[in-house]
Amino acid sequence: MMKINLSVNLGKLKLKNPVMTASGTFAYGKEYSEFVDLDRLGAIVVKGISLKPMKGNPEPRICETPCGMLNAIGLQNVGLKGFIRQQLPYLKSLRTKIIVNILGNSIDEYIELAENLESAGVDAVELNVSCPNVNKGGIAFGTEPVVFAELIKSVRRHTSLPLITKLSPNVANIKVFAKISEDEGSDIISLINTITGMSINIRSRRPRLANITGGLSGPAIRPIAIRMVWECYRTVRIPIIGMGGIITAEDAIEFFLAGASAVAIGTGNFVNPKATLDVLDGIRAFMAGEGIHSLKELTGGLKW
Ligand SMILES: Cc1cc2nc3c(=O)[nH]c(=O)nc-3n(C[C@H](O)[C@H](O)[C@H](O)COP(=O)(O)O)c2cc1C
Repeated sequence: MMKINLSVNLGKLKLKNPVMTASGTFAYGKEYSEFVDLDRLGAIVVKGISLKPMKGNPEPRICETPCGMLNAIGLQNVGLKGFIRQQLPYLKSLRTKIIVNILGNSIDEYIELAENLESAGVDAVELNVSCPNVNKGGIAFGTEPVVFAELIKSVRRHTSLPLITKLSPNVANIKVFAKISEDEGSDIISLINTITGMSINIRSRRPRLANITGGLSGPAIRPIAIRMVWECYRTVRIPIIGMGGIITAEDAIEFFLAGASAVAIGTGNFVNPKATLDVLDGIRAFMAGEGIHSLKELTGGLKW
């Protein structure tokens, strides 16, 4: 039988395979253990964690849209201490890498999160930059190049963990943000986060989400995500984790060809709780069928 190497090196973060979960769609991992052999995943990326617990937004917080969904969960989470005490011991018992998505309202909060998570023994942190910066009038870190650069540079100085910067697609030119991420010391970029959207119930004339606007995810955003991964691949040398609407292995392979070295499954977990492992098995089957030995042969393999 043909030997297939599914392992990937994302800089200093080494994964046994390229399939991970997208933050916020896989809770703290344990919730999916009934459906998924978690040890088989390349990595688990947990829900965004803030310093203090957050209750999130009022309901309704999600609604279905054509080929996707809108969410305005509002970053509900157990907070740093709750995560380290209640969730991390179980996660560390698994044979997979644990990546924590972090969110702060100031640069100092991000630093505190990264430092504490490094001491607690996680494998990497992912900066969620779609958070309002309270010191800069509430503008999201991820859409303003100067504060974006300052955030990455500052966190980089305070942690030796692999640093993943998760890019927001809600910008005019994502290549600018990919380049800043690389220049300021990110080891990896991940993209895309959700695209801001809105949906209206025409009978009540009310927005379908209590928050009015929300983040669009699922297959509806996949072509945009593929385009952005391709643009970033041509702009930076650091590895890319691609996500946005992956449901099947074929979707994941599109991301590899566009330039991703690994992929994350988000909304797909809600459609099929086993989506991560189905995608992993499908990637292996595709590689065997095509005579591809290593993922390196796929990443950036787009012909044009
Ligand atoms: C319900 C929900 C919650 C999410 N929470 C987070 C989060 O806490 N942090 C984050 O960086 N991204 C969060 N995201 C974005 C996803 O991680 C992912 O980037 C996005 O949904 C695109 O991938 P998908 O189309 O496969 O879902 C969330 C998405 C959804 C649908």
